[in-house]
Amino acid sequence: MPEIAVLPGDGIGQEIMPEAVATARAVTENRGFVWREHLIGGAAIDATGGALPPDTLAACLEADAVLLGAVGGPKWDALPVNQRPEPAALLPLRKHLALFANIRPIRMIPALIGASPLKEEVVRNVDLVVVRELTGGLYFGEKGRRSSPPAAYDTLIYTEEEVRRITRLAFQWARERRRRLCSVDKANVLESSRFWREIALDVAREFPDVELTHMYVDNAAMQLVRQPDQFDVIVTENTFGDILTDLASVLGGSIGMLATASLSGKKGLYEPAHGSAPDIAGQDKANPLAAILSAAMMLKYSFGLTAESERVENAVTAVLADGWRTADLAEPGARIIGTKEMGAKVRAAL
Ligand code: IPM
Ligand code: MG
Repeated sequence: MPEIAVLPGDGIGQEIMPEAVATARAVTENRGFVWREHLIGGAAIDATGGALPPDTLAACLEADAVLLGAVGGPKWDALPVNQRPEPAALLPLRKHLALFANIRPIRMIPALIGASPLKEEVVRNVDLVVVRELTGGLYFGEKGRRSSPPAAYDTLIYTEEEVRRITRLAFQWARERRRRLCSVDKANVLESSRFWREIALDVAREFPDVELTHMYVDNAAMQLVRQPDQFDVIVTENTFGDILTDLASVLGGSIGMLATASLSGKKGLYEPAHGSAPDIAGQDKANPLAAILSAAMMLKYSFGLTAESERVENAVTAVLADGWRTADLAEPGARIIGTKEMGAKVRAAL
């Protein structure tokens, strides 16, 4: 029986995850899925002393897929950096599960055009996917401090194999879409970017049917707000991808809509990109749609349940078309509802 490790984590993770699980359960009723909850993040620190308890890691390695809410919050901010929920739970979990590819699709749902801070004509046709490298680069390279004179450093390093596998996967995604891949780097300055570009060009020879272009990351940030519909698939380094996807998320209305899949070729971890949002946690205000759409991605990419996944996506689209909004998507005339009610409306629309 397929088993799913459910990790609600902290802050709004506790509120959005029940909605995602209930929605995914509703469309997989007869498939014998087993859903098991485990501790992660600050919740795990409070209960066990560590942000990623060995039991949780073992359960994730064992499970067929992982559904994650969010980790972190002010209560744990003062801990030394290597014990904080983000670096001590999320990053090692990604590394242990070898989730090297983070897929972040950003598409304009027509009902949300007014919720985007950008002009309608700019965002109307947005439909892009960012493929972010997730287990290498600046976040995982050697880091440290020196005392005299005081200094700190992080290292941006990629092996050839790391670049090959992420660019190859991005080419495959592009091949399933509009066959355009933009590799984002900073090759005018960084050696790691020049290396990345050489390898991308080499991998491109396996994909003569996909058009490869290159763009500097600073220009990519500008192009994403200036003319985002020029992009089909973007592939980029871990940190660049982290920054660009927060920026790109608002093209689709709000980061509260951004679902993600982290893939290894074997296993997938699915999580909304928005984080634990401590400022609104516990108030039934959070938008559960990114978590619900992450669960839909899980059904499709881990279990091949394309029809069930589309049922969930279509239900989300229908609820938004009816004018229902969580506070992050508020616009004049919108009908504002809370986390639980949004989840219930999606299930009613299945
Ligand atoms: C994300 C988040 C994480 C990241 C943080 C919480 C470590 O911002 O998934 O984008 O940078 O990967
Ligand atoms: Mg981020």
